[in-house]
Amino acid sequence: MKKWWQKEVVYQIYPKSFQDSNHDGIGDLQGIISRLDYLQNLGVTMLWLCPIFQSPMDDNGYDISDYLSVAKEFGTMEDLKELIDESKKRNMKIILDLVLNHTSDEHRWFQEALKNPDSPYHDYYIFKTGQEIPNNWRSVFGGSVWEKVENRDEYYFHSFGKKQPDLNWENPQLRKELYQMINQWTQMGIAGFRVDAITFIKKDLSFQSQESDGVDGLVKCTKTVRNQPGIEVLLKELKEQTFQKSDCMTVAEAAGLHYDQLDDFIGENGFFSMIFDFKHADLDIASGSEWFKRIPWTIEDLKNRILDSQMYVQKSGWAANFIENHDQPRATTKYLGQYDRHSDAVKMLGAMYFFLRGTPFIYQGQELGMTNFKRTDISDFNDLSSIDQYHRSIEEGYSAAEALEFVNLRSRDNARTPFPWTHEKYAGFSDHLPWLKLIDNYQDINAQNQVENADSVYCFYQKMIKLRQKSQYSDCLIYGKIEPIETQNKDIIAYRRSYNDEIIDCYYNFTNLYRKEPKKHNYDVILNNLNQIEWDDEIHLAPFQAILLKVRGE
Ligand code: NOJ
Ligand code: CA
Repeated sequence: MKKWWQKEVVYQIYPKSFQDSNHDGIGDLQGIISRLDYLQNLGVTMLWLCPIFQSPMDDNGYDISDYLSVAKEFGTMEDLKELIDESKKRNMKIILDLVLNHTSDEHRWFQEALKNPDSPYHDYYIFKTGQEIPNNWRSVFGGSVWEKVENRDEYYFHSFGKKQPDLNWENPQLRKELYQMINQWTQMGIAGFRVDAITFIKKDLSFQSQESDGVDGLVKCTKTVRNQPGIEVLLKELKEQTFQKSDCMTVAEAAGLHYDQLDDFIGENGFFSMIFDFKHADLDIASGSEWFKRIPWTIEDLKNRILDSQMYVQKSGWAANFIENHDQPRATTKYLGQYDRHSDAVKMLGAMYFFLRGTPFIYQGQELGMTNFKRTDISDFNDLSSIDQYHRSIEEGYSAAEALEFVNLRSRDNARTPFPWTHEKYAGFSDHLPWLKLIDNYQDINAQNQVENADSVYCFYQKMIKLRQKSQYSDCLIYGKIEPIETQNKDIIAYRRSYNDEIIDCYYNFTNLYRKEPKKHNYDVILNNLNQIEWDDEIHLAPFQAILLKVRGE
């Protein structure tokens, strides 16, 4: 059955870095409102705002101290309402980030729990009494998952940062409070949620130490706190008590999920509308919390990961397709390496993921072909995990230069540099020194240069969006089935989309060389990132060419 959210194109905004409106160097809601025309012009239909709630901003808003207020640096509830209304006028819906695994340590519940161990809020979190650290689990952002409570023989548990204590989902009263909060948000006219770190809510309740996997004597906690048996009971209740009541769209960050769980997660009666699958995103590292374990990979690996995921997802439900987000380095540098500023290559990469089956997500700046930076000092980084990964790499025996290289390649700050609107000082993002250093190449790669330039990456994204949303091929490109096309070259990615009798074959040349693929049909070219196209009894693909070919009816 078709669902309303299948035809959306989502644009992800990292509010702190999008547009400052009140001269403090920090992006805000009024800033976003002032850029809605830009987004409408691009053609996206939905905006996902990373957390905008009250927070000490230790993890830039993923540490919430009040779920129902807007962070003061971002604005007010009135600003948010205005943003929702102004977006609606431009046919764009809003989804919010929902952080349910943890709160900030400055949340009222946690403060009550600290003050008084007998308070009902104490059981909203995970505490263990004793004088010793309860076990050897390592948090995602480094160090033990346990933090000592001051002046008491007690520790609290955090899967992520120290200032992000995990909520105790075993407590029914806590769950009820969360559900009420979610329902309050849906009543405010938002279209849905991106659900943060949701596979972490169920823990291995034995809390036993495990064999260590690092020189620190610790073991990564994802083995014992991610996707644990019993999580399905909690997720079913969450959906029934909240999302189901409002037919909202939900996209879950579901790292650690196995493909045989997809029916439960995204089937017709699944817990969520769609999930993010990270298999292709993390193909260059052993895990998201071990950037120093670099893994060599090929285009064929990328192809297999993406197309396997598509085929599994297609059996159960709908995909959420992305190549970037606020936790990932820029896709250009990650997947194209030395060609990260080659605009044909950047467009080709964009098309390859954009026309997969599912809802496409575009991360701010991706539509300009932004790249990674190269920073020379660890003090230039803001991201918690970058700082931790730097020190951990050194602890694991790498030199400071090597550690910096790992961090440059993987830092979440790569995606968080202030948005480059213009070539002016502070890039039109602000007239005040921005909270995070701009990327060096903003004078070349910026929105002003691209919006009016028909050959730009931005205009190519605009074209792709139009083709998917508003063309005679829309049904096929949105709802059509997907299947891999076998290629004779390992470094060509190709797939077929089909809907009733309509067939569209898509080819992407990931090399800077000419390649040929067998031609089995007569075609009309419906999208081409280059000006030329050549074929005889074979399809000739020029370096970094992307083409969408509609099979002609016989
Ligand atoms: C995943 C979010 O995307 C990331 O930015 C955050 O740091 C962690 N979850 C913790 O909330
Ligand atoms: Ca501001």
